[in-house]
Amino acid sequence: MSFIEIKPRSFVYLLQPKPVAIIVSVDSDGKPNGMTAAWLTPTSRDPPLLAVAISPKRYTYELIKQSRDFTVNILDASMVNESEFFGSYSGKSIDKFKNSRLTLIKSKTVKSPYIGEAVTALECSLYSEHPAGDHALVIGKVEKAYVREGLLEGDIYDPSKVKILLYLGGGKYTTTLDKLIT
Ligand SMILES: Cc1cc2nc3c(=O)[nH]c(=O)nc-3n(C[C@H](O)[C@H](O)[C@H](O)COP(=O)(O)O)c2cc1C
Repeated sequence: MSFIEIKPRSFVYLLQPKPVAIIVSVDSDGKPNGMTAAWLTPTSRDPPLLAVAISPKRYTYELIKQSRDFTVNILDASMVNESEFFGSYSGKSIDKFKNSRLTLIKSKTVKSPYIGEAVTALECSLYSEHPAGDHALVIGKVEKAYVREGLLEGDIYDPSKVKILLYLGGGKYTTTLDKLIT
């Protein structure tokens, strides 16, 4: 076996594909904005915490710092256009929800709503924030977790019932196989 060497900055693509989420946050008037994010990982079960790497340049970063909550909305493979749209424009200059078919549902525990068409939606309060290079690690505490009915086998996704959207990088996506390999 031989390896090719790539630029260290391109390592990010070697950790993908990753599930894609739209992070929803609100401004001080309650107006929602969504941003596509793939750099997302759990960090704790008890308390239930997740980290999302958000560049301080994003409008979403500003909104979360201000409102101190957000929702994480996992997409399926039919939502690739929404992933690209919410990941290509800034809420600073356009109302992305007004220009999309996605609908919003009022959350129970946080100000930010969640997306009605998502596979999974997590209501998160801001737990902490950490500088991490050109992105910041934004840690959310999962206050409520919802998944569309009929998609789970026990606690985990049934791959024959749901096609999670997975981001490879460079505008390319894939999804899961229909069956388990083990
Ligand atoms: C598939 C995909 C994944 C992305 N993942 C992230 C991410 O994890 N963190 C991030 O800061 N930006 C990510 N982006 C870029 C933001 O979604 C993009 O800059 C967006 O326009 C920011 O919107 P906002 O300014 O309304 O917050 C991603 C974009 C795409 C298309």
